[in-house]
Amino acid sequence: MAKYISENEGTILKDCKSFLELGAATGALSLWLTSMKFDSFVGTTTDYDDGDDNEIGENIINNFKMNDIESINHIRHSWGEPLEELSLECYDIIFASDILIYVSQYGNLVKSIVSLFERGSKQFVMSFNRPNCKEEALKFFNMMNQEKFITQQPSKGLWIFTRQSENGPDL
Ligand SMILES: C[S@@+](CC[C@H](N)C(=O)[O-])C[C@H]1O[C@@H](n2cnc3c(N)ncnc32)[C@H](O)[C@@H]1O
Repeated sequence: MAKYISENEGTILKDCKSFLELGAATGALSLWLTSMKFDSFVGTTTDYDDGDDNEIGENIINNFKMNDIESINHIRHSWGEPLEELSLECYDIIFASDILIYVSQYGNLVKSIVSLFERGSKQFVMSFNRPNCKEEALKFFNMMNQEKFITQQPSKGLWIFTRQSENGPDL
């Protein structure tokens, strides 16, 4: 993902001022995106709601600190849940890596992506490279297809989803 973005920054990040990462875990991808200092590109990490513990969020903040990178916002968001907090802002581009291992969550994941596009997101960029999960993962692609997402695969293990509206080519 990082290799593809750095090689295609001019096209993939064109007009993008904000990003959101789904299922960020350690925040490694967001940390790299932030460290690259792409023009006015502000990020937000998300992962499932771990309640008052907020261990995931604190771990991400710590990882940014250890790398001398200024922390970014973290939102606890379990897929499929209302996006109230997230709706305060529009995120131009959504990123996620390695999140298709939870087959039972595909419906909720698609629901969150649809909500983000309804709030103005234009692209969902996802990497996934687990050959033994390929068949199961097809279900996710079918669900995205049913929600009118257009899928491109610019390189192995990387997909870019955009969405066609009923009124025109892009939402
Ligand atoms: C295999 S990890 C990948 C982490 C990170 N993106 C990476 O590439 O290293 C999958 C991530 O999805 C998150 N996740 C799983 N189910 C979720 C759900 N229902 N809602 C939100 N996040 C979820 C997990 O907490 C975990 O951080």
